[in-house]
Amino acid sequence: MSVAHAESQAAVLDLERFLLVERRRVDLALAQVAAGVLDGVAPALAQPMEYALATGGKRLRPILAAAAYRALRDEPDGRVYRLACALEMVHTYSLVHDDLPCMDDDDLRRGQPTVHRRFDAARATLAGAALIPAAVRVLDVEAASLGLSAETRSKLTVELCRAGGALGMVGGQLLDLQGEEVAVDAEGLERIHRGKTGALLAAALHVGALAAGADAGELAALTVYGEDLGLAFQIVDDLLDVEGRTEVLGKTRGRDLDLGKATYPSLYGIEGARVLAAGHVDEAVTSLRGAGIRSPELEALARYVLERAH
Ligand code: IPE
Ligand code: IPE
Ligand code: MG
Ligand code: MG
Ligand code: MG
Repeated sequence: MSVAHAESQAAVLDLERFLLVERRRVDLALAQVAAGVLDGVAPALAQPMEYALATGGKRLRPILAAAAYRALRDEPDGRVYRLACALEMVHTYSLVHDDLPCMDDDDLRRGQPTVHRRFDAARATLAGAALIPAAVRVLDVEAASLGLSAETRSKLTVELCRAGGALGMVGGQLLDLQGEEVAVDAEGLERIHRGKTGALLAAALHVGALAAGADAGELAALTVYGEDLGLAFQIVDDLLDVEGRTEVLGKTRGRDLDLGKATYPSLYGIEGARVLAAGHVDEAVTSLRGAGIRSPELEALARYVLERAH
């Protein structure tokens, strides 16, 4: 085994361990947050909400928020992870709605039946919607427990709502649906991906940075990192839809082709898409380094986005 290969193997193993530990921390925080959110909620609504939150995903957005906090300040504690759960809640709602029959009409998510298949479309729609105000509340409560100022708390709320809204994720989802079965050019495709995926991923960095008391330069650099990483992440999501395996992905491979989605592999080919994703990961890391942010975790997470198999 060459030295370079041995080193890269070691790096992959470290990353795996890091991701495992971080996922456990997020899952614990999410269970705590969910208990509060679901308290007193009618079972018919609480059950699909709980199902959606507890069906485990990669937890990448809260992991990124915690990593940004660690890069700028300190080892994050439970309050930071619970704060970061607000991002996972908005992300989870976006998946529940994305899978609905009126959108991507998917049966499988995170290796389990989608929420509308397990329950029904009305309950899935309502459970998803209920996660939005719940996320804003969790964000504010945990920001208060961290002792953040009223100004910072307000910035956090504005950021999450902007990224999740019509100018961010929801707007991107509309463009994604409008792009089915029609020709979308490079600029249009980038706009879709920056919106539907990049906005919330960038918000994860923004939230972690704000909680850590970032200055304007750090905030800007982490936002660029998040935007580029988000774009790379969605390009790889497109690639996995072509090259992945349903059992590993936990979602049905080939849906993009079935639905006539505008994707990077369809516009640039497999190799072209891979090169573009790698370029955005390089840009992401360059942005961090340019601002003097030294973070082995954020750099490893950037690599992971390219190498992931699900
Ligand atoms: C899937 O997101 C939807 C996209 C934005 C591409 P993830 O791949 O982060 O899904 P989970 O949370 O790990 O299931
Ligand atoms: C979904 O993009 C993005 C959001 C949920 C906001 P996709 O439709 O490509 O995600 P998957 O492939 O179903 O996870
Ligand atoms: Mg979709
Ligand atoms: Mg989908
Ligand atoms: Mg996809």
